[in-house]
Amino acid sequence: MPHLFIPGPVDVDPDVMEAQTNPMMPHRSAEFETIFRGTEAKLKQVFFTESRVFQPPSSGTGMQEAGVRNLAQQDILSCINGAFSERWHQVAVTNGKQADRLEAAWGEPILPDALAAALKQKKYEAVTIVHNETSTGVVNPLEELATVVHEISPDTLILVDAVSSLGGMKIDTDGWGLDFVLTSSQKCLALPPGMSFAAVSDRALKKAETVENRGWYFDLLRLEKHRIKNSTPMTPTMSLIWALDVQLDKMLAEGLEARFARHAAMAERVQSWAVDHGMEPLAPEGYRSKTVSTIKNLRGVDIAALNKFLMDKGMRIANGYGNLKNETFRIAHMGETRMHHIDELLDAFETFIEKM
Ligand SMILES: Cc1ncc(COP(=O)(O)O)c(C=O)c1O
Repeated sequence: MPHLFIPGPVDVDPDVMEAQTNPMMPHRSAEFETIFRGTEAKLKQVFFTESRVFQPPSSGTGMQEAGVRNLAQQDILSCINGAFSERWHQVAVTNGKQADRLEAAWGEPILPDALAAALKQKKYEAVTIVHNETSTGVVNPLEELATVVHEISPDTLILVDAVSSLGGMKIDTDGWGLDFVLTSSQKCLALPPGMSFAAVSDRALKKAETVENRGWYFDLLRLEKHRIKNSTPMTPTMSLIWALDVQLDKMLAEGLEARFARHAAMAERVQSWAVDHGMEPLAPEGYRSKTVSTIKNLRGVDIAALNKFLMDKGMRIANGYGNLKNETFRIAHMGETRMHHIDELLDAFETFIEKM
């Protein structure tokens, strides 16, 4: 079986793909609403929240837009250390928000002290943090960052993009006091693209009541009105919900802690293999992603040629993102990727390096 090691979309198990072929039914029906209620209940376990999880049509970027549009009238602090946190900042600015930048270099984490200093200078309604920067393989210290916000500016809402981590690394939404946690279907949840999910706290919804121009499609209050009736304001992605239902059962059967441990073990294997072969992860120790390893290309590997070689064997990795192209490469180990896939990939990689 071919296997993708790119950081989304990832491979989808055949039984999950198959679930999408269920015949259509009215979405405003008890039959569909029962499934929808069930997927939310299971998602709450994966998000570690007891509040609510929205399951709207749209990819993750739509929920980036929902977050900034609903949860701040004006002042946002955007933590930026890679392409997707930069995108979230642009989303805020293009929605007319006054978004300030707290930056760290690409490849470096956002550190709690820097966040603390920014929060002491100005009062923000919301702070946006990308948990796992897919562009650099850096995982930001989310729990510590959340603690800083709670201590210094307790009214500031904490908005988190967990697109490439939720379901692969533990995010304790309620325990860490996060207000808005979003993800997409096509990464650690190992579903086809097309859906987003967002856990939203009660106080975030209260805040939304005070925010003007929330729009229609991504209005969290409208989504909530329909969620409590087990539906969405717009037509839901029914086929994807059926797939989600099957996939969440599989994830919960594996056990979330076991799933997180599997991702951590694969990350350790890839990152130590890189060091053993004269390369190293871009991220500093302690901030290395468990779902996507970004490796400095210190051996000058021709990534396009490597991928051609790998594709003949049914595998594919990702080049570095943006300016990091060819300087780095990325090996994703998320979703249903297992250690034997990683072993096969690294064996092939090694053969390629030996031939160089
Ligand atoms: C961290 C992060 N945020 C946001 C996005 C955008 O998500 P989507 O493509 O589902 O809109 C991505 C996509 O790769 C991502 O990795």
